[in-house]
Amino acid sequence: EKVTALKNINLDIFAGEICCIFGPSGSGKSTLLNQLAGLEKPTRGGVKICGQIISRMNENELAAFRQHHSGFIFQSYNLLNHLNALENVALPLEFAGIEKTEREKAARHMLGEVGLAGRMKHYPNQMSGGQQQRVGIARAFINRPQVIFADEPTGNLDSKSTKEVMEMMTRFVREYRQTLILVTHDQEMAAYADRIITLKDGEIVRQEWKEKEKEYENE
Ligand SMILES: Nc1ncnc2c1ncn2[C@@H]1O[C@H](COP(=O)(O)OP(=O)(O)OP(=O)(O)O)[C@@H](O)[C@H]1O
Ligand SMILES: [Mg+2]
Repeated sequence: EKVTALKNINLDIFAGEICCIFGPSGSGKSTLLNQLAGLEKPTRGGVKICGQIISRMNENELAAFRQHHSGFIFQSYNLLNHLNALENVALPLEFAGIEKTEREKAARHMLGEVGLAGRMKHYPNQMSGGQQQRVGIARAFINRPQVIFADEPTGNLDSKSTKEVMEMMTRFVREYRQTLILVTHDQEMAAYADRIITLKDGEIVRQEWKEKEKEYENE
């Protein structure tokens, strides 16, 4: 059976924007996010980030692009269970070829930023969901990517942890002037966004800006 997961998508997201992709289950949110992030390729059309057409890149080019420009936060945290918090957070820097003492120093700083200074040596199964997601946030932000992609980052958390995680992500994004593209079906989370894009059956049916006249530097 042929599924049209997305159609007629024509979208500009600006640097520094917190953009929320909202909509019911099956509306195409994850498909859109994955295509924007270069994790899935559109059958037609393209995606351009920071002047580069990522939808035309091969796997190696994409991997290099993601390493330099993108951070990912997942609903199920996706931490490596055999690595402790410090090692998980330092991993993107290891891939980037940064030496051990330097990457551990940066990871310690990031864990402090997310309030986990006392959990550096803890393994994922020794932490609560909220703590694991804060490790996930520290990992996503450690190399200061221009764009952070998050698919239901609070989907497994209670309301207190949801608030903590949302406030943390939005604070970092503002502080480092990054772009956050966030998928959710939770109306409360959409409140943190500059723009809410609502999808239905793979199409954008609505866009709402919090501050219409807010200016962004560039795409
Ligand atoms: N790999 C795939 N092959 C075929 N159809 C797919 C594939 N992935 C998703 N779909 C379909 O595309 C549509 C959009 O799926 P998507 O996962 O993007 O929805 P979603 O909005 O993220 O939903 P949820 O809130 O449940 O995560 C759905 O109808 C789904 O069944
Ligand atoms: Mg989804």
